[in-house]
Amino acid sequence: MSATAVFHVEHSRCSFRWLPLPLPVAYMPSEAPPQATSGTSPLQPPAKVLRTKTLAVVNQKGGVGKTTTAINLGAALALEGHSVLIIDCDPQANTTGGLGFRRQKDDEPHRLSVYDVLLGPTTLAEATQPTPIATLSLVPGSKNLVGANIELVSVPRREFRLHDAIHRLTSTDQHYTFILLDCPPALDLLTLNALVAAEGLLVPLQAEYFALEGISELISTLDRVAQAFNPELGLEGVLLTMYDDRTNLSQQVTENLKAFFGDKLFKTTIPRNIRLAEAPSHGKPVAMYDARSRGAEAYQELAIEVLTREGIESPRMKERKSNATPKKEMKFWPYNK
Ligand SMILES: Nc1ncnc2c1ncn2[C@@H]1O[C@H](COP(=O)(O)OP(=O)(O)OP(=O)(O)O)[C@@H](O)[C@H]1O
Ligand SMILES: [Mg+2]
Repeated sequence: MSATAVFHVEHSRCSFRWLPLPLPVAYMPSEAPPQATSGTSPLQPPAKVLRTKTLAVVNQKGGVGKTTTAINLGAALALEGHSVLIIDCDPQANTTGGLGFRRQKDDEPHRLSVYDVLLGPTTLAEATQPTPIATLSLVPGSKNLVGANIELVSVPRREFRLHDAIHRLTSTDQHYTFILLDCPPALDLLTLNALVAAEGLLVPLQAEYFALEGISELISTLDRVAQAFNPELGLEGVLLTMYDDRTNLSQQVTENLKAFFGDKLFKTTIPRNIRLAEAPSHGKPVAMYDARSRGAEAYQELAIEVLTREGIESPRMKERKSNATPKKEMKFWPYNK
């Protein structure tokens, strides 16, 4: 396929157009990306010791498990003892609903959302809501985000709105170890804002024939966004979701993905599990709905894999290590010989 071709993915839940090259005017940088500052000059604040890892959960294909991953990986990382913020960048606001926030009625008082952050003076801190897990917070999405794509076009630094808001948040005392951005199933200005704000992409993928179709285009999009807006952007990992290792197709697709992505393919796979599908209707992450389900265990395993890749030891990992009983020395009869 030529680089300038327009690529369509037909899906029952989305219709997506790849960005043609060269980037259309709407996606050209409105201003130069901010220059990295070393923090060594006496005029600049010292480099922060605590780092925040911002990951965009992204795939232009609909219904592949982005929202399920944002909610449950976020919850699992929070339960490992880390401070986590999920930002719901999708007008469908499924992450918001899945964490127990009802869709707002028109006559209800306005709940601040990421829309107000992108298009107004609202800060992320002002829009942040607590969740039932103490260390997990949410910046809600809202249906207003549908219009944000058009409204943003005339806003200065339109691609950097989320980046700048996150930068402001993480420069204050409020520290998050992880910020997860749940993206809509489209490469629109909302997703672009997430890609510009993120350090890594986490790509959920179903192990099916058509899943492979968009992958090389997804990677070339990553490259183009990295070149034009965010040189720090990289692929954090590819995650197989709704996985059934009993089928030949799953195994074949997994082999292909392993060959293509190498160690970027997460070792953890998320099985198809009914508890994962039920949990959002109860407004809870699966770890709170059914902590012993295969779905909850898989997302905990994923959280540990992410932490291990990042070289971060969590309070829970330390606890588990110190509670692990040392292996008993093997003794053979007769003991006194
Ligand atoms: N591992 C799983 N096992 C069973 N059901 C799942 C699993 N992962 C996701 N689902 C279900 O599949 C559907 C789509 O998942 P989800 O909403 O997470 O996908 P998405 O990529 O965010 O979709 P969209 O592109 O529309 O935002 C949901 O009904 C969800 O509950
Ligand atoms: Mg979603």
